[in-house]
Amino acid sequence: MKKKILVTGGTGYIGSHTAVELIEDGFEVVLIDNLHNSEAEVAERIGKITGTKPRLEVFDICDREKLNDFFQRNMDVSAIIHFAAYKAVGESVSKPLDYYWNNLVSLINILEGMKDYAVPAIVFSSSCTVYGQPEKLPVTEDAPIQPAISPYGNTKQIGEEIIRDTVAANKNIRAVSLRYFNPIGAHKSALIGELPRGVPENLVPFITQTALGLRDELKIFGDDYDTPDGSCIRDYLHVVDLAKAHVIAVKRMLENKNKHDYEVFNLGTGQGVSVLEAIKSFERVSGIKLKYKITGRRAGDIEKIWADPSFANRELGWKTLSSLDEAMKTAWEWEKAVRKKN
Ligand code: UD1
Repeated sequence: MKKKILVTGGTGYIGSHTAVELIEDGFEVVLIDNLHNSEAEVAERIGKITGTKPRLEVFDICDREKLNDFFQRNMDVSAIIHFAAYKAVGESVSKPLDYYWNNLVSLINILEGMKDYAVPAIVFSSSCTVYGQPEKLPVTEDAPIQPAISPYGNTKQIGEEIIRDTVAANKNIRAVSLRYFNPIGAHKSALIGELPRGVPENLVPFITQTALGLRDELKIFGDDYDTPDGSCIRDYLHVVDLAKAHVIAVKRMLENKNKHDYEVFNLGTGQGVSVLEAIKSFERVSGIKLKYKITGRRAGDIEKIWADPSFANRELGWKTLSSLDEAMKTAWEWEKAVRKKN
C-alpha cells in the first residue's frame, strides 16, 4: 500500500516540484490548493511528468469545516507537507492582517486536523528570513532568531513556534521545519516552474521575464553593500534539490529515524552568490545580454546570507546536486516554454 501524503499549496512553485518527487518515490499524493497564486492545470502537468496525476482539491484550508471534511474522507493521510502560504514580502507590509490570518490560521487548522485525525508528521516551509542579517556566516541552525523585518517573515517565525509548542504538547505529532534559502529553477521537463502573477518580486523570474522582453530592464537593488562586488549575496538552490529534501524529511519521520520530535534544518548550497554573479550565470547559460541598471537599495533587504547546510548534509543525507548555472538554465527553459504556451 502506498503511503498517502497531503501537500498543501500543492500547485504552487515548491509544492508542485515536491509532489513530483514524492510520486516518483512511490507515495500517493493529494494536493490541496485554493489557486490564489497558481493554476489547477499544474496537477495535470505533474501527471504528465510522473505518469500519475495527483488528486487536487480546491479549497482554502483557513476554512476549518472544509478541512475537517477533507480529513474525514482521507483518514489514511500519513504525513502533511504544508506549503500553502502567502510569500510576498512587500505585500505583507501593506496587508499585514491578510498575512497573519492566511499563514497562521491555515497552520493552526492543519495542526488541529493532525490532532483530531491522528496524522503523525508534518513538514513546514520555513525560511532563512528567520535569521535576519546573521552575525556569523555561513549561518547554522543555532544562530539567533532576529526580530522579523516583515509581517511575512514574522509568520514564518511564529509558525515555527506554534509547531514547536504543539509538538511538545502532543506526543503523537512530529515535525520538521525546513528553512529554505533562495529556491530557483524549474523541473527539467519545463512543464512546471515558478510562475508569479503580475510583476515578480524575486530575482530569477524578473531576470527571465526581462530576457524575454516582458520587462524593460532589471533593477539591481544596490551596489554599495559591504560585499566583494557591492551587490547583495544569497544562497540560490535548485528547486528540485529542495523538493527532494522534503521527501527525505517525510521518510525520516515515518521511519522513526528522527532524533527529536521537532527538528529544524537549513536547506541551501553553502555558497554565497551576488546579484551580479547571478546575472552573469544567466547570461552564460542563455547567451543573452541582460538589460539591467543599478538602483537604490530595497527596504528590508539583507546584505548577505548563505547557509551552512552541514547539519542537513549529515542528518538527512541530503545535499544540493545542481550548480547555479544548471538551475538558471532550467529557469530559462521554463520561462520560454510557459510563454510559448500562453
Ligand atoms: C525574499 C525574502 C525571503 C522570502 C523570499 C520569498 C527578504 C529580505 N527576503 O528573499 O524572506 O522567503 O523573498 O519570496 O525580503 N533583487 C534585485 N532586483 C530585483 C529582485 C531582487 O536586485 O528585481 C535582489 C535582491 O536585492 C536580493 C536578491 O536579488 O539581493 C534576491 O532577491 P529575492 O529573489 O527577492 O529574494 P530574497 O530577498 O532573498
